[in-house]
Amino acid sequence: LSCGIVIVAAGRGERAGQSAEGPKQYRTIGDRPVIAHTLDTFATWPGAGQIVVVIHPDDEDLLAAARRRSPARELIVVHGGATRQQSVLAGLEAVAATGSRHVMIHDAVRPFADHALLSRCANALAEGARAVLPAIAVSDTLKRVDAAGTVTETVSRNHLHAAQTPQTFDLKIILDAHRAAASSGRTDFTDDASIAEWAGIPVKLVEGTVDNVKLTLKRDIAMADEKLKRYLI
Ligand code: C5P
Repeated sequence: LSCGIVIVAAGRGERAGQSAEGPKQYRTIGDRPVIAHTLDTFATWPGAGQIVVVIHPDDEDLLAAARRRSPARELIVVHGGATRQQSVLAGLEAVAATGSRHVMIHDAVRPFADHALLSRCANALAEGARAVLPAIAVSDTLKRVDAAGTVTETVSRNHLHAAQTPQTFDLKIILDAHRAAASSGRTDFTDDASIAEWAGIPVKLVEGTVDNVKLTLKRDIAMADEKLKRYLI
């Protein structure tokens, strides 16, 4: 089963702080920018169809520099929107124009997704799911905290999972759901499985990986860099 790929990279990465290298997806970890690692993973995965990268209009040069550090493969580049949801929709429209029937949507800032994970997602689709979510069971004890920093409740972690990407879909179904969400005025869905849920589409869970972290804060980038440098020596 061949999947069109949408890699969203149009965020400004404000929680990771300012850097001369630009938003976090363009920071160097190991020997290359974060997004070069991510693109490599998909470009070398046998199930990947057309890859669409969604970027901020200001980042054309940063993407071009990152692409010099990843294998040559044709990409479609489109511009994103003000929220992740809007950026994904722009990417989905571009994948739909290529005639793809399946799509995998991935955060550029998750450079440690591996081929086994991608195949797990695609296989669940091949077995009949229309929406597939990689996730891992929550292992920490969870606390609800009020604005003053006082714990108000311990939330049971039974049945709770942390959502990852690549989330994988029947393209027509997720595109219709995204268009409906946008038409309804919603722009704040933080992942695509939640749009499928909102549209009433059952979402199938597959096992994510502990390594597949989202680089969000400055220290996440520092840790990813350390980890890759250990592999490089
Ligand atoms: O902000 P967050 O960490 O949830 O971003 C997840 C992914 O979505 C990142 O790869 C980021 O570049 C992307 N994004 C986007 N357009 C936005 C906001 C985030 O493509 N407006």
